[in-house]
Amino acid sequence: MSTLSAGQIGRYKKIVCAYSGGLDTSVMIPWLRENYGAEIITYTGDLGQGDDLAKIKAKALNTGAVAAEVDDLQERFVHEFIWPAVKAGALYEGQYPLHTALGRPLLARRLVEVARAHGADAIAHGCTGKGNDQVRFEVTAQALAPDIGVVAPLREWDMLTREDEVDYAFARGIPVPITREKPYSIDQNLWGCAIECGEMEDLWTEPPADAWQMTKDPIEAPRGSTEVVIGFEHGIPVSVDGVALGGVALIRQLNELAGHYGVGRIDMVENRVVGLKSREVYEAPGASLIHMAHTELERVCLDRATFNYMRRVSQDFANIIYDGVWFGPLRESLSAFVDQANKPINGVVRLRVSAGRAIVTGRKSPTSLYDDGLATYSHGDTFDRTAAVGFLKLYGLPYRTVASVRRKNGDDPLAR
Ligand code: ARG
Repeated sequence: MSTLSAGQIGRYKKIVCAYSGGLDTSVMIPWLRENYGAEIITYTGDLGQGDDLAKIKAKALNTGAVAAEVDDLQERFVHEFIWPAVKAGALYEGQYPLHTALGRPLLARRLVEVARAHGADAIAHGCTGKGNDQVRFEVTAQALAPDIGVVAPLREWDMLTREDEVDYAFARGIPVPITREKPYSIDQNLWGCAIECGEMEDLWTEPPADAWQMTKDPIEAPRGSTEVVIGFEHGIPVSVDGVALGGVALIRQLNELAGHYGVGRIDMVENRVVGLKSREVYEAPGASLIHMAHTELERVCLDRATFNYMRRVSQDFANIIYDGVWFGPLRESLSAFVDQANKPINGVVRLRVSAGRAIVTGRKSPTSLYDDGLATYSHGDTFDRTAAVGFLKLYGLPYRTVASVRRKNGDDPLAR
């Protein structure tokens, strides 16, 4: 079935293969052994997708791997990737909280680390040839260990359908999922879920009810609403309703709450790195509350220039994550700015969550720049309104100058 030039045989002697236990990566194990003549070690990282790591490990060994490494990466994922993205306000094309894109550099890093530890000369991943994830895996590998080879079997083999892969696995006695899978491609972790394919490839078709994994249909959400208070220190979420929580637990709790109210559904057409547009449906229940609350504290705690500059940095930071260049020098430099700018982001934000919707209803911060005396329209006003006269005289000067020059030339601004 698979047709590869014999030249590939012997190219690598040991390959560390990213392994989820699904059909593609299960078929990859025998395929790489047959077509590269290599020993296969699998690597599975837990980013909070909810899989049983012990089962996955056993399955990899049953499928022909000589060793199977598994890791719980959730804490690292939160502290090294999710929180920096929150601090930067990183939402790709203004919407997508980047859960898949943030997980890839960590998984790719672990793959090359495991390759080093086992003396392997290549890594392999199960990404397709038209997606963003191949870019993220391979650029990360190049940035961290440029001497290590990368194999992408899905770009090489000639199995074009699921059925081809099932036949291939069956012929080799490899266990494959027997349940009829949903016709979607789903990628879920602690920070969110992405769903594509099936009927959703038609942009006009509403996502089917069975596509959603983490959120209730807002129509089935409880009536009424609930309040939640999220606390931050230096831009990082640290508590919910006054209770201090570690990152993983905090995100899980907010996923639960927002998911229950159907908050955080996003239906989006996006521009992929490889040039095409695709439609992706996202669920980001906890992420949407956290981003909303963080932005609110920025409004309160940042001076105007930094707040506005942050909007630009957010966009650049999101593009860097999406484009797979987390381990590039620009991200490092921007992170230095983002960390500095987040120092005054402290305090709590209260949100009201109801069916399909969350809104900010209160904010409180020890580092707030809001000054009651300056802001008030009642007694106790400390703002010097007489100073506004001189301010406006200078602030309007360029426009008065333009108007007078135009009038001198017979060009009345009112006649334009
Ligand atoms: N479009 C998103 C990204 O490039 C998610 C990719 C994975 N999507 C999926 N449904 N498997 O980051």
